[in-house]
Amino acid sequence: MRRVDSIMQRVYEERKQSRRVTAWKGNCVKTVIVYNSVFGNTEQIARHIADAIPGTVKLVKVGKASPQEISGADMLVVGSPTVGGRATRPMQEFLDNLPKGIVGKVSLAAFDTRISMKFAQIFGYAAPCMAEALKQKGCAVKLPPEGFIVKRRNGPLADGELERASAWGKTVSRGASRRMGPPGE
Ligand SMILES: Cc1cc2nc3c(=O)[nH]c(=O)nc-3n(C[C@H](O)[C@H](O)[C@H](O)COP(=O)(O)O)c2cc1C
Repeated sequence: MRRVDSIMQRVYEERKQSRRVTAWKGNCVKTVIVYNSVFGNTEQIARHIADAIPGTVKLVKVGKASPQEISGADMLVVGSPTVGGRATRPMQEFLDNLPKGIVGKVSLAAFDTRISMKFAQIFGYAAPCMAEALKQKGCAVKLPPEGFIVKRRNGPLADGELERASAWGKTVSRGASRRMGPPGE
């Protein structure tokens, strides 16, 4: 049984690595997903979204992402846990530091994770904040911001949220269209 587990883990790791693209290639839609995650729930959502998007997908955690990562992408997807009604500080700083010249050329979709308690609504959620911040910089927001529910602060995700993430990833890919630029761009 343990051997089966380790094989499954290896297959999972290899699959994970295959989503990590270092250079854009070909003419397919190019998507970059930048996410943050403290307890791992947003990361799980981000991976399911990545797996559902056809074409070339870069999946990057926010601390490792640079603005250049987005340069040349057609679609930018950002995802963060909701903390105090907003995105996490590293995600906010990353978005603040993105040059208009880069983000003005991409389409955007934003998601967050959140708890479903009524009081949390008062503070708002991360995804609308991120979408608004990037819209101000010229991003074309292609989809309404989306939220995925965690049962408690540290998770787990509510039932059905991973499946919903996959479905949302497919919707994202339909919203993305290849950026037409000069040859070689
Ligand atoms: C300090 C803190 C503040 C939080 N504030 C909110 C909030 O305002 N609204 C909300 O819906 N969830 C809030 N949460 C719950 C987080 O959204 C939840 O921890 C997150 O979705 C888990 O994602 P992760 O596993 O990727 O870190 C908060 C959690 C922490 C730890």
